[in-house]
Amino acid sequence: MTILVTGGAGFIGSNFIFYMMKKYPDYRIVCLDSLTYAGNINTLKPITDSPMFRFVKADITDTAAVDKVFCEEKPDTVVNFAAESHVDRSIISPALFTYTNTIGTQVLADVCIKHNTPHFHQISTDEVYGDTAADKGCCTENAPLCPSNPYSASKAAADLLVLAYHRTYGLPVTVSRCTNNYGPYQHTEKLIPLMTVKALGGLPLPVYGDGSNIRNWLYVADHCSAVDMIIHHGKSGEIYNISGGEDMSNIDIVKLILSILGKDSSLIRFTADRKGHDRRYCIDSSKIRNELGWKPTVAFDDGIRQTVDWYKENRKWWNNNI
Ligand SMILES: NC(=O)c1ccc[n+]([C@@H]2O[C@H](COP(=O)([O-])OP(=O)(O)OC[C@H]3O[C@@H](n4cnc5c(N)ncnc54)[C@H](O)[C@@H]3O)[C@@H](O)[C@H]2O)c1
Repeated sequence: MTILVTGGAGFIGSNFIFYMMKKYPDYRIVCLDSLTYAGNINTLKPITDSPMFRFVKADITDTAAVDKVFCEEKPDTVVNFAAESHVDRSIISPALFTYTNTIGTQVLADVCIKHNTPHFHQISTDEVYGDTAADKGCCTENAPLCPSNPYSASKAAADLLVLAYHRTYGLPVTVSRCTNNYGPYQHTEKLIPLMTVKALGGLPLPVYGDGSNIRNWLYVADHCSAVDMIIHHGKSGEIYNISGGEDMSNIDIVKLILSILGKDSSLIRFTADRKGHDRRYCIDSSKIRNELGWKPTVAFDDGIRQTVDWYKENRKWWNNNI
């Protein structure tokens, strides 16, 4: 089995490659990544010499380059993690997000059709459902899409494209929409690594608004196991929500990181809120739990300590990232 993993030099993609290579030593994994500021080739160093792994530096919006990889590797499954992923950047440069996240996904889907690729899996996000007020419950896979920022709008557009390709051209697709991930190898622009490295340096910790925005947090290895189940047992044309059990406000996370590191909360600085900032996301993941038997295994309290320790012990990795 050959799996093409796009965006595999980024946070979740690299964790997914490590997870799959360990679990399925006889699978061939091909990573296609253009190495934007968010991609880090050093992350993949431990596996670059493996005969079961190949890295290709290419852009998912480049049809000829993508087609060449498909001709050479004939992937059985494509898992598309490649994306511009930071909401703040999407507010400053929306066009790049539309281009990479939407057109890039379309290019991959077109090339899959050309090569009769047996399975295309699109990695999406809970953010496509938009703000979910506390009295509105949680979104199932059938909830309307209501993205609030250019990042989530570009991801929603990509979801709709691959689902339309399934219906129109019969492309075998699955889509997963996951909540916030945390764990090793995440870029230091994102909340948990940002607060951890600032606290480690004794620097002020910038928190948007009053910090009361709520997110659901899933340890990255649990996201990897969910995608593994979907690509092996998921039903073509279906969407699967993926969420952990832990809803936390941003300010509670920041305080927890400070307490793990034995630092004082006087480092916290509240800043002007992000434009269009969603207050809360909430998705219902009973479909993947009931139909595929998936469940998360890492409790937030353990995962956050492991993650903070990882950033403490891997300064060289994130120093190169800043
Ligand atoms: N991080 C989260 O909490 C989270 C939650 C739900 C869904 N997601 C989704 O998971 C996927 C991965 O997220 P992440 O946090 O690992 O992102 P990331 O920013 O850490 O990594 C993205 C990777 O994609 C690569 N890339 C960007 N543009 C590319 C292009 N045009 N061609 C080829 N490669 C390109 C980058 O070089 C990088 O290696 C994204 O699709 C994101 O929308 C992320």
